[in-house]
Amino acid sequence: MEIAGKVAIVTGAGAGIGAALAYRLVAGDARVVVADLDGDSAAKVAADLGDHAIAVGGDVADEQVVAELIATAEREFGPVDLYFANAGIGGGPGLDSTEAQWANTIEVNVMAHVRAAKLLVPGWLERGSGYFVSTASAAGLLT
Ligand SMILES: NC(=O)c1ccc[n+]([C@@H]2O[C@H](COP(=O)([O-])OP(=O)(O)OC[C@H]3O[C@@H](n4cnc5c(N)ncnc54)[C@H](O)[C@@H]3O)[C@@H](O)[C@H]2O)c1
Repeated sequence: MEIAGKVAIVTGAGAGIGAALAYRLVAGDARVVVADLDGDSAAKVAADLGDHAIAVGGDVADEQVVAELIATAEREFGPVDLYFANAGIGGGPGLDSTEAQWANTIEVNVMAHVRAAKLLVPGWLERGSGYFVSTASAAGLLT
């Protein structure tokens, strides 16, 4: 994947793998929207990355938040080329989990990705380019 000059959104980029993705993308001369539920951690990562990054706080399971991420990317940097659906929550749902815990896990780990793809993929098909990258665990397959 060519990343130089591309515009990327990385979710869950305030920490861990998402933050590492954001650093790697900026090192490769991409511009990045650093998105995280924890707006403060997103702001710290974006500040450290300098003028190639901007932070947006919010829950990426909320379609309005994803729409805002895309609008911010377009306004600040241009059309989105790469979407890293990395935010996720681990642990939890088992047979002893509540309906609410199951619903939250499905919202963040599944529907957030679906909603972002619905907003982005049609435009990518028209433009003839775009990458949707999901961070997923082998544990999901094993389960
Ligand atoms: N670390 C691992 O060993 C591992 C293994 C397999 C899969 N994963 C997956 O990789 C991804 C990143 O893992 P990590 O270890 O870097 O996690 P992490 O907990 O270090 O970071 C995840 C980030 O996502 C953010 N986040 C959580 N829910 C969010 C939401 N609804 N909206 C926006 N941001 C949200 C958190 O605030 C946090 O900053 C996750 O999807 C995780 O399930 C991690």
